[in-house]
Amino acid sequence: MPTTRSPQRLVVLVSGSGTNLQALLDACADPSYGATVVAVGADRDGIEGLARADRAGIPTFVRKVGQFSSRDDWDHALADSVAAFEPDLVVSAGFMKLVGEDFLGRFAGRIVNTHPALSPSFPGMHGPADALAYGVKVTGATLFVVDGGVDTGPIVAQVAVPVEDDDDTEELHERIKVAERQMLVENVGRMAREGFTITDRKVRFGA
Ligand code: GAR
Repeated sequence: MPTTRSPQRLVVLVSGSGTNLQALLDACADPSYGATVVAVGADRDGIEGLARADRAGIPTFVRKVGQFSSRDDWDHALADSVAAFEPDLVVSAGFMKLVGEDFLGRFAGRIVNTHPALSPSFPGMHGPADALAYGVKVTGATLFVVDGGVDTGPIVAQVAVPVEDDDDTEELHERIKVAERQMLVENVGRMAREGFTITDRKVRFGA
C-alpha cells in the first residue's frame, strides 16, 4: 500500500485495558511518527481502553454484538463506524472479536492485529495460557495483516519473549505485552511512513 497522506489515519479497536492503544497514542504525539489515532472503537462499554481515548480527546464508538440481530449486522455496523473516520489503517489492539466478511472486504489489506504468541503457534483467545500449558521456553507476540482466518494473516513483525519456570499466565502475558507494545509502535509507524506490500504472504516495507 503506497503511503498517500501524512499523517496516516489510524482507527484502533480495543476490548480491554488498552495499553497497546496507549503506546500508539504516546507515539502519535510526535509528528515525526507519521500517524494519528482518529478514533477508537470497542465491542463493550466501561473499559479502560475507551477511557484512555476519552482522556486523549479522541472520538470513540461502541458496537456490541448483542445490540444487533445477527453477527453479520454487527459486522456491517462496525465497518460503517470505522469507515466514517476514513482510516488508512485499522489497528486491532486487544480487540477480542473476529471481524466478518463485510469488514474484511471494506478494509482489505489495511487491518493489522497484534497477537500475544509467535504465530503460527497458539492462535486464538488464550495465547499466553496455551504457550504456558504446552511448555514452550520461548513465546512472544506477532503483528499481522488480518485475513479470514484466526491469527493466520501475513506477518508484519514478531518479537520473542522467554518463558520463565515459575511464570503464571498473567506474569507471562505482562512480559509479552512489554515487548508487544514496542513492536506494535515501531512497525505501525513504519507502515505509516514507508507503506508496505504483501507478496506471497511476505510483508515488506516500502511502496
Ligand atoms: C494484548 O496482549 C493483545 O495481543 C491481546 O490482548 C492484549 C490486549 O492488551 N489480544 C489477543 O489476545 C487477541 N487474540 P491491551 O488491552 O492492554 O492492549
